[in-house]
Amino acid sequence: MPERVRITDVSPRDGLQNEPGVIPTADKVRLIALLADTGVDEIELTSFVSPKWVPQLADATAVIAALAGVEPLAPDNRRCQLSVLVPNEKGMAEALKVDHDYLDKVSVFTAASETFSQRNTNATIDQTIERFRPVVAAAREHGLLVRAYISCVVACPFEGPIAPDRVARVAEQLLALGVDELDLGDTIGAGDARTIADMLRAVDRVAPLRAGPVPVTLHLHDTFARAAEGVRAALDLGVRSFDGSVAGLGGCPYAARKLPDGQTLRAPGNISTELLVRTVHEAGYATNVLPDALELAAAWARQIVKPR
Ligand code: HMG
Ligand code: MG
Repeated sequence: MPERVRITDVSPRDGLQNEPGVIPTADKVRLIALLADTGVDEIELTSFVSPKWVPQLADATAVIAALAGVEPLAPDNRRCQLSVLVPNEKGMAEALKVDHDYLDKVSVFTAASETFSQRNTNATIDQTIERFRPVVAAAREHGLLVRAYISCVVACPFEGPIAPDRVARVAEQLLALGVDELDLGDTIGAGDARTIADMLRAVDRVAPLRAGPVPVTLHLHDTFARAAEGVRAALDLGVRSFDGSVAGLGGCPYAARKLPDGQTLRAPGNISTELLVRTVHEAGYATNVLPDALELAAAWARQIVKPR
């Protein structure tokens, strides 16, 4: 039997947060419903961040409330886990108000780059980690799992290359908080097989990739069409959990850069879940994902983000 790899689709969160317009709530809910039919192991639904910072996801509570009408997500039918992004205690308080039948996990996020941390969360790395303490405690109290993202694990849009040891150091700080999962984000898709592998070897020293106590997920953006290389390198090193986004939507609005000519370079999209699943299958591993159902979700994702 081929070994199984876990797939999370983050398109309703990472995908839609980077769209120039706000997608109607009903369209987001339909995307989530189509993803629930694909067999992905987890769907990242939305964010409880400041609506001033990310207006695209200001309807987080309404999105989750609407899931009550989605048949494949009904508590008796549901096979995938559901998660939301939470930056601080305030976001956690909002997340805890939703129906717990539709929430299994909260995802906190920090970075291996100080400049990116400031731009994305108005806080130093250490300050973000302090903010997570009450979030992790509340998650424990309410039976929720905690995923912890580290952004800029290969490079930062503002600082350039990031040394693998810096990533390992932040991973250690997060493990000391007692998180259930680490998620390593190549936020601007700067990595290739070698730099991803170097970074993973450094993380492996503090969080064993192969059947360690804390699962390590890889979250790749696909700027230079090298993300599939990174997936293959990670599989070789023992990573068995990956994030993708249908139709390759995605990107952090706070990773956008101004070019010398004054134009803004938007943050790049995630590896598409379609390419991710194909790459994993071609490497000889299994997933629970049905590629045809994934194509339907990707077609809808493309439809809702195109200019109206
Ligand atoms: P701040 O402005 O420093 O917050 O933002 P504050 O604590 O000073 O509060 C200011 C106001 O915001 C207050 O309201 C708070 O109540 C409110 P006021 O008194 O002015 O009316 N506030 C909130 N409102 C709703 N929800 C909240 C919340 N917190 C405070 N949770 C903060 C700090 C972290 C909130 C802000 O910087 C923020 O929301 N940042 C999020 C940015 C973001 O979502 N980025 C994209 C996600 S990360 C990503 O994409 C990377 C990833 O994909 C991995 C990878 O690719 O690398 C995960
Ligand atoms: Mg991302």
